[in-house]
Amino acid sequence: MAGNYYIITGASRGLGESLTRRLLQEDHVVYGLSRTENREVAAFARSGGFKYRYRPVDLAFPEEASKVLHEILSDIPSAEAGTISLINNAATVSPLTDLSSCSDEDIVRNININFTSPVVLQSTFLRMTSDSVKKRMVVNITSASAQFPAGGMSLYCSAKAGLDMLTKCAALEQVGENPVKIIAVDPGMMDTSMQSTAREANIGLSDYFKAQKLEGKLKGTDAVAKEIISLLGRYLLEYRGDGEHIQKSNRID
Ligand SMILES: NC(=O)c1ccc[n+]([C@@H]2O[C@H](COP(=O)([O-])OP(=O)(O)OC[C@H]3O[C@@H](n4cnc5c(N)ncnc54)[C@H](OP(=O)(O)O)[C@@H]3O)[C@@H](O)[C@H]2O)c1
Repeated sequence: MAGNYYIITGASRGLGESLTRRLLQEDHVVYGLSRTENREVAAFARSGGFKYRYRPVDLAFPEEASKVLHEILSDIPSAEAGTISLINNAATVSPLTDLSSCSDEDIVRNININFTSPVVLQSTFLRMTSDSVKKRMVVNITSASAQFPAGGMSLYCSAKAGLDMLTKCAALEQVGENPVKIIAVDPGMMDTSMQSTAREANIGLSDYFKAQKLEGKLKGTDAVAKEIISLLGRYLLEYRGDGEHIQKSNRID
């Protein structure tokens, strides 16, 4: 039977780890990208006999990230692949400070991780799989921050807004015979290290983030991963490859 291949950035913790574990359990092949390897995920995959491939990458360097994706896509045996999906999940909220206090280096790093690398990866994915007859999907993990301006979060909010617009524009281009599903998914607020960084910062929204945690309003990543995978399954099932395209942003509530 043809297998489903998923390439997930930020697979080492948070939402990316939950997506990875769940997709592995469903017997899909997962390529996980991050700077650090999560050894527990590797052990989980080994003990379950799951098909997990870890690739180290620092998304602060988009051209290197593109090379890694190139290698992965060359590695996927096309005769065995039923679907191939890229999930641009990795992100950073740092630096959390006024724009005037951000160093040039911090700015370039944030925008490379949150915007440039996801764009480059998406472009590489579309180009390298363009001759494929497989069902293909790109999922950009976005945020409410793309819509709501927040002081101290200029870079993160702007990068996510850019990713939202890129999703819409790139989806409009998918009008050929074998279009790629391109969607953006906002997972909502989750109890992850990213949230903890935002809570501990000294920005306008820090108190709001603390209150959300205290009031138990942060979602668990496993539940969110389950919803996202079910959403993707529906899209892959409905896929007709007849010029249909999607340009909406999906919010997981
Ligand atoms: N948490 C929330 O409340 C929330 C709300 C809305 C949207 N989101 C979005 O949901 C997604 C997942 O967030 P999360 O909360 O799960 O984040 P997280 O717990 O902070 O995990 C971030 C992941 O990204 C990877 N990453 C960070 N910098 C990287 C770099 N330079 N190169 C490669 N990988 C890098 C990390 O791996 P390494 O450190 O090992 O590299 C890690 O696996 C993000 O797109 C985020 O914007 C989150």
